[in-house]
Amino acid sequence: MAVAVTFVLCLTLLLAASAFAAVRPRVAEVYLQNGNFEEKPDPKNLQKTKLIGKYALPKWEITGLVEYVTGGPQPGGMFFPVTHGVHAVRLGNDATISQTIKVKPGQLYALILGASRTCAQDEVLRISVPPQSGDVPLQTLYSLNGDVIAWGFRASSDIAKVTFHNPGVQEDPTCGPLLDAIAIREFYPPILTRGNLVKNSGFEEGPFPIFNSTSGVLLPPKQQDFLSPLPGWIIESLKAVKFIDSWHFNVPFGHGAVELVAGRESAIAQILRTVPNKVYNLTFAVGDAKNGCHGSMMVEAFAAKDTLKVPYKSVGKGGFKTASFRFKATEARTRITFYSSYYHTRIDDFGSLCGPVLDQVVVFPVA
Ligand SMILES: *[C@@H]1O[C@H](CO)[C@@H](O)[C@H](O)[C@H]1NC(C)=O
Ligand SMILES: *[C@@H]1O[C@H](CO)[C@@H](O)[C@H](O)[C@H]1NC(C)=O
Repeated sequence: MAVAVTFVLCLTLLLAASAFAAVRPRVAEVYLQNGNFEEKPDPKNLQKTKLIGKYALPKWEITGLVEYVTGGPQPGGMFFPVTHGVHAVRLGNDATISQTIKVKPGQLYALILGASRTCAQDEVLRISVPPQSGDVPLQTLYSLNGDVIAWGFRASSDIAKVTFHNPGVQEDPTCGPLLDAIAIREFYPPILTRGNLVKNSGFEEGPFPIFNSTSGVLLPPKQQDFLSPLPGWIIESLKAVKFIDSWHFNVPFGHGAVELVAGRESAIAQILRTVPNKVYNLTFAVGDAKNGCHGSMMVEAFAAKDTLKVPYKSVGKGGFKTASFRFKATEARTRITFYSSYYHTRIDDFGSLCGPVLDQVVVFPVA
């Protein structure tokens, strides 16, 4: 009896522990204040949709033409995709919104935002948290209902002024990025686990979306590993890669993985410490996210002078396989890189780029 009770207790504790593990990625993340813009401006600070005055948008500071809009079809035939709540802001030419937040010096964070462009032109969203600043292109359509984007930064003091800026000068002043929700996530520094030279090897530390993002989270191009919204990894390509979670997608292992959504223009890399002339085994999983992405896929992996092409036939049902190869280090640092050989689009939405999923990247020396 006592044994049975102990067993049940242990089982309960185990279940509780695994339940905790399952929710952990979601608790470290919060909206900025009025981060989903559902706290409405005082009507006296609104002229139609235009916000009047620096403090017209509750909890934010604004400059330039910032509009407070409601999602859906608009007069004039435009459609504003607002998937997180009902309201959003639109940044006109040279407009900004900013908020000062409390952070921990030295800590790595990701801003996670629902953002989309409003016109056919390429639009850019400039995100800055001094001294860091980056331009996020909103030109490529990855999904029809607005994208969720993550941008990484490292805090340099205990407060940070987060600014979103439309640096564009469009002829049509009603064009400009639409911001629909803004959250922040604090990362635990990536740690190396025994028997694996790859940090954050299963993509378990990443910008899990606080909001119900059924289209994943785009990690914009050219983000360095020390600032990346995917700790440990470099987004080194011209186009974004997508971070996906197990709540909305099929993920080979654990809760996070990456989807290589833009062919050879969408690469992810990490630099490992290696011993020259030593031989290493690189193992990784390739699969599909169960998101209607069909076809003959191919992931190419590179390490030192060695490469491997891994074909994967996706029927969009969410499978995976593992592959491995050996490489010989030539330097004290070895870059491992992955990209998809081909482009794919979803069968239910030809406007949405998709691709093979990469997960569980493991490198260890061969004895
Ligand atoms: C998330 O979005 C999906 C698809 O739009 C919907 O079916 C689901 O109910 C949503 N879940 C929550 C918690 O809002
Ligand atoms: C790499 O290691 C894995 C796991 O031990 C093993 O299954 C695989 O065969 C190895 N691959 C090579 C090319 O040695």
